[in-house]
Amino acid sequence: MINHQWKLARTPQKGWPTDGDFIFSEALIPEPAHMQLCANTIYLSLDPYQWGRRRSGTEAIGEVCHGRTVSRVITSRHPQYAEGDLIFNTSGWQDFGLVGDDISCFNYMFPRVLDPGLAPVSTAIGVLGMLGLTAYAGVYLQCQPRAGETAVISAASGGVGQNAGQIAKIKGCRVVGIAGTDEKCRFVVDELGFDACLNRRSPDFQAELTAACPDGIDIYFENVGGPVFDAILPLLNKASRIALCGLISQYGNDDPASGHEIWRRSGAATFTKQNVIVHSLFVGNFVAEYQDQFLQEMSAWLRDGLIHYKEDIWQGLEHAPEAFSAMLKGDNFGKTIVQVSAL
Ligand SMILES: NC(=O)c1ccc[n+]([C@@H]2O[C@H](COP(=O)([O-])OP(=O)(O)OC[C@H]3O[C@@H](n4cnc5c(N)ncnc54)[C@H](OP(=O)(O)O)[C@@H]3O)[C@@H](O)[C@H]2O)c1
Repeated sequence: MINHQWKLARTPQKGWPTDGDFIFSEALIPEPAHMQLCANTIYLSLDPYQWGRRRSGTEAIGEVCHGRTVSRVITSRHPQYAEGDLIFNTSGWQDFGLVGDDISCFNYMFPRVLDPGLAPVSTAIGVLGMLGLTAYAGVYLQCQPRAGETAVISAASGGVGQNAGQIAKIKGCRVVGIAGTDEKCRFVVDELGFDACLNRRSPDFQAELTAACPDGIDIYFENVGGPVFDAILPLLNKASRIALCGLISQYGNDDPASGHEIWRRSGAATFTKQNVIVHSLFVGNFVAEYQDQFLQEMSAWLRDGLIHYKEDIWQGLEHAPEAFSAMLKGDNFGKTIVQVSAL
């Protein structure tokens, strides 16, 4: 068998991914050394931060593209893993990867064996994985929602956003989502149980957001930045809290003043006047202390039907760049996953 791999062809400098950024290549299936295993990728997670790694040069040219995965162990020389185990790991954009005990900044979640009885294993890269923990950390641990408060979530139908809104709802908030199409907004209200959801592309977006938040905004879960953030600013209540999770509208922007800096500058006056607390959110800071608590609580919510999730699954590793680009542009509907091989 052949190990198909997507490698980074060049360091992308501007805009969104293009065809020349990636090379599809073939390699032999790797042989695990002592304390390693070889795993066959089933699900590959595509996430916005991967674009940041590529654009910043963190991912080297010629390297297999990084990505978290759900895989099946095919050969194990590690005592904790048996052949046939389904695991969460970080094999990247390829059919087969080696897994060891190594850990790095972007691989801060240790490989772990999954229990298919708990939930479908694809949730290990979604609602029960990094995305769920990000939402849990931002909404629950950082913003500490109180019943009756208004929470607004941008990219509300996406991987992180859908969890963030549902957690705020469980904690008793009135939850307003923001998404990029009417279809996404209907899903967010009808299937996820948000109280309202607004299309960020509507010409009356600011007025609609103001009407949907008659008591102002107490919690804002920031995923996107740009014009959505501009519409949020005038509605922030005194002592409101923001979880600064991401600014995806800026990730393809070449203006050196884009991103966090311009976001802070444009919000500064409101933050001071309204005593807004801005929490910088990096999920890696919550893994060691909160992963077990999160998994326990989130699994229970899933089991009790309090959390629903939507996955946007593409079939075939060959489609990874196309799916990645679609997700960055907002053409995804739910958590973006590539199914690389059969479960
Ligand atoms: N801080 C952390 O530790 C951490 C961890 C994970 C993820 N994140 C961040 O969380 C955010 C969501 O990530 P995700 O993996 O869940 O992706 P996602 O929400 O599933 O997909 C990205 C979404 O961003 C929205 N979007 C894209 N371009 C936009 C634009 N120009 N303006 C407004 N919205 C735009 C689109 O939603 P609509 O078209 O529906 O608006 C798109 O569906 C990202 O900013 C990511 O970087 C942060």
